[in-house]
Amino acid sequence: MAIFTSQVVAAFLLALPLAHAGSPKTCSNPQLSCQNTTAVSDTCCFNAPGGQLLQTQFWDTSPSTGPSNSWTIHGLWPDHCDGTYDSSCDPSRAYTNITAILQSYGKTDLLSYMNEFWVDINGDDESFWEHEWGKHGTCISTLAPSCYTGYTPQEEVPDFFQKTVDLFKTLDSYTALASAGIVPSSSATYTAAQITAALESAFGYPVTIQCSSGALDEIWYSFDVQGSVQTGTFVPTPPVGQTSSCSSTGIKYLPKSGSPVSTSVPSSTHTTLSTSTKTTSSASSSPTGGSGTFSGSGYLNAITSGSQTGCLISAGTWYTSGTCATYTATASGSGFTLKSSKGSCGISSSKFTCGSSVTATVFTASGGYLSYGGSTMFYAAAVPSGSTQEAISTTSNSVSVSFEWQSK
Ligand SMILES: *[C@@H]1O[C@H](CO)[C@@H](O)[C@H](O)[C@H]1NC(C)=O
Ligand SMILES: *[C@@H]1O[C@H](CO)[C@@H](O)[C@H](O)[C@H]1NC(C)=O
Repeated sequence: MAIFTSQVVAAFLLALPLAHAGSPKTCSNPQLSCQNTTAVSDTCCFNAPGGQLLQTQFWDTSPSTGPSNSWTIHGLWPDHCDGTYDSSCDPSRAYTNITAILQSYGKTDLLSYMNEFWVDINGDDESFWEHEWGKHGTCISTLAPSCYTGYTPQEEVPDFFQKTVDLFKTLDSYTALASAGIVPSSSATYTAAQITAALESAFGYPVTIQCSSGALDEIWYSFDVQGSVQTGTFVPTPPVGQTSSCSSTGIKYLPKSGSPVSTSVPSSTHTTLSTSTKTTSSASSSPTGGSGTFSGSGYLNAITSGSQTGCLISAGTWYTSGTCATYTATASGSGFTLKSSKGSCGISSSKFTCGSSVTATVFTASGGYLSYGGSTMFYAAAVPSGSTQEAISTTSNSVSVSFEWQSK
């Protein structure tokens, strides 16, 4: 009987397609890339020479790619600290089976996200991913196979794609621009100063914008990294050495023809969070729409980069692995107030809180999103995970997040 059982277990293990990964080397007291004052030799814990990591995004309209209300991912580029860069650093690791590698590591959620948000203009996503990995990914020093303990072949590949997607999710360019009234239009034009100010106010630092035929089509966000790309901290920084190809005035931000990202879920089933599934059916008719106006009872869903990532709980904190709190919205003045089971909600010392001693703030709504002081952008130190709750603030921080009302 015991033999039979172990055979069954062995057969089951063999059937699992998942590779067992090693782990990135532990880094103690890592230095911030591009900010060192003496040479740093351990390039597994210090990104060099590519120490300025750029999360680059596309806005493709001809043809359109991705959702009509979200930017898409271009890549993650290790620029030198002066904006020059190396490319195609290790032809022996220029893999031509990115999809298969990600599947072999069980990264199906990552792949489905990439299929929606990391898309090739000619429809050949696999080739685009191979290009980004081979040209840029192989130049990231901390992703070298020698930087892993118990390295299993190609495990740096899922690390590269996962980190790029995780960063992209914190950089919601569409909402940053829309909050400043910069929305896609076939006729309107914007100045470079308007666009960069809107992005800087969301990101905290200047960014680099690119244009093609007079239309905005790329945004580059720069980071220095403390530690490895896999496990280190990405610290926003002003760009060094990159230049913009946009003219200063008359910039178009053309509409995409795709469908908007939909975050609506059937309200009857939405009592517990589900962060890994995104409902793409029943697209809302508004490009930035929530599923209702702020009145009666509802949930405040957190939206980063066009996808739902948890919601607010009763104290007004952001959580991704529990039950969403029910909020009551009541018309007041030119807007509405919000209340949870803890009490009234308000902005106090730049923080969103709900409690018995909180003075209710009159909020407004914009495109289905909660708005305060004319902006739908709120901030947190990080995207919460596990049992961590994040405080929500109106002053700039690492992560920008918007809140969509979902009627109960
Ligand atoms: C920072 O470290 C890199 C890698 O060791 C080195 O090439 C560079 O010269 C250092 N920068 C300074 C200012 O010492
Ligand atoms: C991907 O390609 C590499 C290099 O050809 C190969 O060694 C590896 O086994 C492939 N991985 C998968 C999961 O197919």
